[in-house]
Amino acid sequence: MSRLSTVSGKQIQNIIYGTGYKRWRTARLLNEALALGYRSIDSANWSMSRSLSLLTLVKNSFETYVGLSLSQTTIPREDLFVQSKFVSQPHHTPFNPPYPPYEGQNAEEACHLSFLRSLENLKTMYLDAFLVNAPEITGDSMVALLNLLVRLKAEKRVRYTGLCNIASVDTLSYLHEAVPGAIQIVQNPLHSPWDPEYKIPRYCRENGIQYNTFYTLTGSDRIVRNPTTESIAEERTITAQQVFLQYCVQSQITPLVGARSQKNLLSSLAIANGEVDPLPNEDMKALSRLMAEQSVINRYRGATLLERQMKQLKKEKGREKMRSDQARFLQDALAERERGEQEVVQKAKERAKKLADQLREENVSV
Ligand SMILES: NC(=O)c1ccc[n+]([C@@H]2O[C@H](COP(=O)([O-])OP(=O)(O)OC[C@H]3O[C@@H](n4cnc5c(N)ncnc54)[C@H](OP(=O)(O)O)[C@@H]3O)[C@@H](O)[C@H]2O)c1
Repeated sequence: MSRLSTVSGKQIQNIIYGTGYKRWRTARLLNEALALGYRSIDSANWSMSRSLSLLTLVKNSFETYVGLSLSQTTIPREDLFVQSKFVSQPHHTPFNPPYPPYEGQNAEEACHLSFLRSLENLKTMYLDAFLVNAPEITGDSMVALLNLLVRLKAEKRVRYTGLCNIASVDTLSYLHEAVPGAIQIVQNPLHSPWDPEYKIPRYCRENGIQYNTFYTLTGSDRIVRNPTTESIAEERTITAQQVFLQYCVQSQITPLVGARSQKNLLSSLAIANGEVDPLPNEDMKALSRLMAEQSVINRYRGATLLERQMKQLKKEKGREKMRSDQARFLQDALAERERGEQEVVQKAKERAKKLADQLREENVSV
């Protein structure tokens, strides 16, 4: 069970509603989720600058739309758990341009500005949780960010803080010890390619850190399709996805689910609200075995994906060369045409001069 709670003292749900990747549908889908009973919400700020926020509309997280929905709801703010994130510069990189670099001189300043922007976007005086989404920030610069999180907490502007996309348990334990109290939440992909042995969730369990996961269902296709999962589901008259989400919850994982359909929203809500009976040990063990298998498969898929990307890159380079050859050919052809036109103009001028001379002579002789 999660130890985090809302201001009104309600323990947060077993599942957090993810607002990412919904673009212009964000507000409408969040309205629906709130109406159905979701009270824990995950968001992220992708744009620091209001003037550039239009450019980031093509990106997936529309925090202002989350704010729009929150400003329309009649649910008291203190009953909601609202979490957002600072998205570090390296996260923007694959999308540059048009994604703007963050404001501020350094990551610390950018993180502070991002926090203030999130308050504004979400139309709230405080955040329940604020995370640093920083896969490539180094240990040292991360310490500065974690110290900032601690300061924000002391100012009572945020209640819980943490990190996203942390690669190794060594980095996590180093940071957890370097800045005590700063890491209360870790948000990672469920089957993290950097942590195939699931050491990070174990560390979180042992150290009282809440462990959020994304790609929980999308990265677990073999688990939900497995006959063992299906038979557990059939026995309990629930879906295989519900079985797996329940397994996560009992493993002290808090999945983020961003379902768009009402059917899936309702199915995940039953797990979020603890309405499904706990799985017995033997089912938990069987599902743990499937987790290990899925991890191996995902790593294999990751490797083949890498190969595919390399081939794609080579193809792109080939195309680039073709394009540059074509460009050179075009330039040469244009220059040739220009030369030809110059010659024609020159000849025309000479002919005109000749004609003018001839006319002058004729006029004189008349
Ligand atoms: N920190 C990060 O770097 C990061 C990265 C990625 C995502 N996130 C967060 O994580 C959230 C979740 O994203 P996600 O990529 O894990 O996927 P997701 O948005 O939860 O959806 C995954 C798929 O699962 C389906 N689904 C959801 N609930 C289901 C259920 N109970 N039964 C059957 N199918 C179900 C959805 O279908 P329908 O949509 O058709 O209902 C969708 O096709 C995002 O919204 C975002 O907030 C964070």
